[in-house]
Amino acid sequence: MDWPRTPCYLNGEYLPLAEARISVLDRGFIFGDGVYEVVPVYYRRPFRFEHHLARFERSTREIGLASALDRAGWQSVVERLVAGTDAEHQFVYWQVTRGVARRDFAFPADTPPTVFAMTSPFTRPSREQREQGLRVVSRADERWLRCDIKSVSLLGAVLARQYATEQGADEVAQFRDGFLTEGSSSNLWAVRGGTVIAPPRDRLILEGIRYGFVAELCAALGVPFEVRRLTQAEVESCDELMLTSATREILPIVRLDGRPVGSGRPGPVYAKLRAAYDEAIEALRG
Ligand code: PDD
Repeated sequence: MDWPRTPCYLNGEYLPLAEARISVLDRGFIFGDGVYEVVPVYYRRPFRFEHHLARFERSTREIGLASALDRAGWQSVVERLVAGTDAEHQFVYWQVTRGVARRDFAFPADTPPTVFAMTSPFTRPSREQREQGLRVVSRADERWLRCDIKSVSLLGAVLARQYATEQGADEVAQFRDGFLTEGSSSNLWAVRGGTVIAPPRDRLILEGIRYGFVAELCAALGVPFEVRRLTQAEVESCDELMLTSATREILPIVRLDGRPVGSGRPGPVYAKLRAAYDEAIEALRG
């Protein structure tokens, strides 16, 4: 598929992605002043859409921006973009910025936001990734202190992921003051003694939509689930490590800094959660 020709939404209009234009004075471009969402779409149906909308509304509130469209408005944009694209599975990206204004740090008065949305074909994680697992490297978390906001200011994440790539790894495990936070664009999970342990949902991580989902799956499967801070030593000696994100779903991590995690193979808790995740997606097939 020639995906830049796929339709996108920009400020009320639908047009091919390759033709969409914004001003160089857009505050998203100048300051990274905006927030975004990434929603996976399976069998042409958004997965946990209400959760993504609620998180987006929270992000906009936290930066003093209006959400631009109401829930029905977002729903109709997403439906129209998905309908205009062939792929069975897609992910919809949208972002709202504080609009176009003369460069000045303080918020501009009466400036309409820039509202943009697009969809891309979504290739689900490969069999190899699921069966062989991922490699992760540890790194000091050098991002700002409001990682709970899904901000388009992503330089910290970009530098962290580039570091992983240069190390031949798939993701970073970030540590702040010796405690696990998250990946560059994923939440991380440790398993110790059969219990899934997640770092607290505070300002130091983005609460992934899969965060709540994994908690629900654990409850349904009878897998003990605990929320607490994890030291780097605990992460290094855990039985299993996993990551979740909209685009990577849930994947096992088999190496941390070149050393095997647990047995060095995807573990039994991962296998259970992966099966339950796939089941939830298959339920969308209709
Ligand atoms: N990123 N933490 C960070 C810093 C993230 O950027 C993401 C997702 C997550 C997982 O959230 P969710 O389960 O809602 O995808 C956690 C998306 C995929 C991105 O920026 O492309």
